[in-house]
Amino acid sequence: MTNTYSFPNGFWWGSATSATQIEGAAGEGGKGKNIWDYWYETESNRFFDHVGPETTSDFYHRYKEDIRRMKEIGHNTFRLSISWARLIPGGSGEINQEAVTFYNHVIDELLENDIEPFVNLFHFDMPLELQEKGGWENREVVEAYANYAGECFRLFGDRVTKWFTFNEPIVPVEGGYLYDFHYPNVVDAKRAFQVAYNTMVAHAKAVDVFRKHEVQDGQIGIILNLTPSYPRSNNPADLRASRIADLFFNRSFLDPAVLGEYPQELMDILHEHGHLPQTEPGDSELLRANTSDMLGVNYYQPRRVKAKENLPNPYGPFMPDWFFDIYEMPGRKMNPYRGWEIYEKGIYDIMINLKENYGNIPSFISENGMGVQDEERFIENGEIQDDYRIDFIREHLKWLHQAIEEGCNAKGYHLWSFMDNWSWMNAYKNRYGFFSVDLETKERTAKKSAYWFKSVSENNGF
Ligand code: BG6
Repeated sequence: MTNTYSFPNGFWWGSATSATQIEGAAGEGGKGKNIWDYWYETESNRFFDHVGPETTSDFYHRYKEDIRRMKEIGHNTFRLSISWARLIPGGSGEINQEAVTFYNHVIDELLENDIEPFVNLFHFDMPLELQEKGGWENREVVEAYANYAGECFRLFGDRVTKWFTFNEPIVPVEGGYLYDFHYPNVVDAKRAFQVAYNTMVAHAKAVDVFRKHEVQDGQIGIILNLTPSYPRSNNPADLRASRIADLFFNRSFLDPAVLGEYPQELMDILHEHGHLPQTEPGDSELLRANTSDMLGVNYYQPRRVKAKENLPNPYGPFMPDWFFDIYEMPGRKMNPYRGWEIYEKGIYDIMINLKENYGNIPSFISENGMGVQDEERFIENGEIQDDYRIDFIREHLKWLHQAIEEGCNAKGYHLWSFMDNWSWMNAYKNRYGFFSVDLETKERTAKKSAYWFKSVSENNGF
């Protein structure tokens, strides 16, 4: 069979997960508590259907069968994250040997099945003890993170070559410090920018440690959720609103991670409003010296932006939203089961931007996917007929293919996610997996998309 859309040799086909979302065993195997365990214990009503992080897909006990399933559907790569609180229960200090054994087994099992592990160090899961010391607001936590990263490179760097420092570092900033959807539920832009800044310093420190470890053939990068910003019109006010949204939500991480410095316009805005973060001597040099080798791009939806209709309230607290309004473009295509816009060309626009403005850094789609509520309604003959997900992936892949044709340096595509998983406050509301998971029995069942993706990865195209 000849493909209409063929991808470069060695293209990475796989899926992405994170420790807290799939492992389960939250109180087992010597794991320390992280902010999710704690927040659920104290405010379980904030979680969809009161379901907490203990009730996940139980990868901790079922990783062998899951890796067999990955192999069956043609994965050549798979992203997992290490749970910091499982490896170092207090966040700093003693290493938990049971965790070392667990991650060793998972990595070895993947390699034995010819699936390359992509390992991410932080996916929203701050160890509780460190959060109690101020979390990312405290520079000591930045040091603890660099230490933790070094331990991971030492323990697993003999086999893992693809490393990521953070997944979507903006989410703990937005969720934890701006819009109250993650613990510690602070709403304070000044503290938010400090958290964002310290996270990028932590990233650069981890890259520095990584390079000193000399992981053979190793590459290190970061995973960012890039949300292309589209203005409502070419009117200068809309263009400015869109540019500022891009500065706050994309470039505040993309520029330091890839170019090694913050955009001047962002710094000017923060300065003007008295929101510049505190820095330490040597930070700028550290950022400049430790840019990423590669980039993971999580793409779900664009951000459509228009100029503010009411002038910002000069007496209210400073927020990024002072500068723009969200524009609900008439006629946009929606995922009716999740309420997010579907705009496949966004993936192409991101890649072209990386090519033109970010040195065409090697990158890959590290998450893209379609969340669906009550997905059981699509079961026929015992299988979820998720043709909507197949269409979703196919149309995004077409645009990714187009970007590659035009010289973009895209290396792979990972779906979010391998199996249905626990998604923070949304718990099991939105299902994303190639495999569904029965929350009672933990039984996994392949959806139609799993077989479709198998044929795509086996043919390296479609
Ligand atoms: C991504 C995160 O942004 O979105 C994942 O990296 C998350 O951790 C996924 O699960 C889906 O989110 P939701 O809210 O639709 O379940």
